[in-house]
Amino acid sequence: MKPIQVGLLGIGTVGSGVFNVLARNQDEISRRAGRGIEITMVADLDVERAKAVVGADIQVVNDARAIIANPDIDIVIELIGGYGIARALVLEAIAAGKHVVTANKALLAVHGTEIFAAASAKGVMVAFEAAVAGGIPIIKALREGLTANRIQWIAGIINGTTNFILSEMRSKGLDFDVVLREAQRLGYAEADPTFDIEGVDAAHKVTLMSAIAFGIPVQFDKAYVEGITKLGAADIKYAEQLGYRIKLLGITKRADKGIELRVHPSLVPSKRLIANVEGAMNAVVVQGDAVGTTLYYGKGAGSEPTASAVIADLVDIARLHTADPEHRVPHLAFQANTLADAMDTLPVLPMSEVVTSYYLRLRVADQAGVLAKVTGLLAEAGVSIDAVLQREADEVGGEGSTQTDLIILTHDTREGTMDAVIAQMQALPTVLAPITRIRKEELN
Ligand code: HSE
Repeated sequence: MKPIQVGLLGIGTVGSGVFNVLARNQDEISRRAGRGIEITMVADLDVERAKAVVGADIQVVNDARAIIANPDIDIVIELIGGYGIARALVLEAIAAGKHVVTANKALLAVHGTEIFAAASAKGVMVAFEAAVAGGIPIIKALREGLTANRIQWIAGIINGTTNFILSEMRSKGLDFDVVLREAQRLGYAEADPTFDIEGVDAAHKVTLMSAIAFGIPVQFDKAYVEGITKLGAADIKYAEQLGYRIKLLGITKRADKGIELRVHPSLVPSKRLIANVEGAMNAVVVQGDAVGTTLYYGKGAGSEPTASAVIADLVDIARLHTADPEHRVPHLAFQANTLADAMDTLPVLPMSEVVTSYYLRLRVADQAGVLAKVTGLLAEAGVSIDAVLQREADEVGGEGSTQTDLIILTHDTREGTMDAVIAQMQALPTVLAPITRIRKEELN
């Protein structure tokens, strides 16, 4: 069979990886796909650099639309990123009848509904394994391997930059700013790391997983997003003393009233495997009713790990290219005509309706009755305490200190209830600084 022809938009780190892995493993990949897979055109603004990567046999252009206009191209790989020109080019490629492979989580989390509808109308595939957790085949696992299951929850470390920062803060006792600068120096963190450290990148990824797990449209605008910029070294230390590690988790969960969709720092028991995922590695835990708990671990970024996911999508498309569109795996795993209806039965819940447990740190005056007052407010609100840790004042504020840290772990409660009781505690004259609240996930 004639090789399937691929056009590549953007040949940076991931694009080069795709080119290199495809060239290196061409024979093996062709035997798996049942036909050859050839990149025949590359578009990049830096034509000379692109030529240096791909050599003289491949046509390099600086206009992505020349690839979309080429009738011989079957698949367009979009590796430009962002939601501006990338959105326009993906929609134009679909309109031209091309299948699309993309690593662009931001684009799909925000514009996925429009893009998947356009692809379904045109009978083409949009594949995005590389958009979530880089080289880990988590999209494949959710869309296909776990298809028998009613998924109950997913919790993932799906941003390597923040996991590297948190790992360094814990192991070296350093503050956030210091480690961020080190991460930038080592090339883990972008020059503008906002999307990573504010949790936005992880929220894009968990939004995609949520849609596939529960059969709902992608709804990034309803995700709760909180990053790691306010985490202090003290909280990481106290969490460790209580048997927990702090991780930035992307969580989506089937609850009684709907779907939880959230990204925030979370205390995780140190004994859980996912708590021990360190450095820039990613890991995702999926809980299904039939399979139980499953764990997926690997590199969430980087040239060849991400290329591994992009090429897996190319092989899938090569295999299914001639199949009746009705018999392909739906983009979001569930049949497209069932997604919108599911929004009534499975609405994404506001954060006030999320039920979880909490770590609270209060800087308090070290005097009689303070602990009783604080725990009294929790009791009145019906919030049950799991553990309390109080440090000696000297240890916290130096010799002769009249202040101390009070750390409280709670059992599960509704976030709205916790918001109200934190406001009451904050108003106590003996509470001397803004209260730190970090959510806690037992993941059992
Ligand atoms: N910036 C991401 C991370 C990789 O740090 O994990 C691409 O999604």
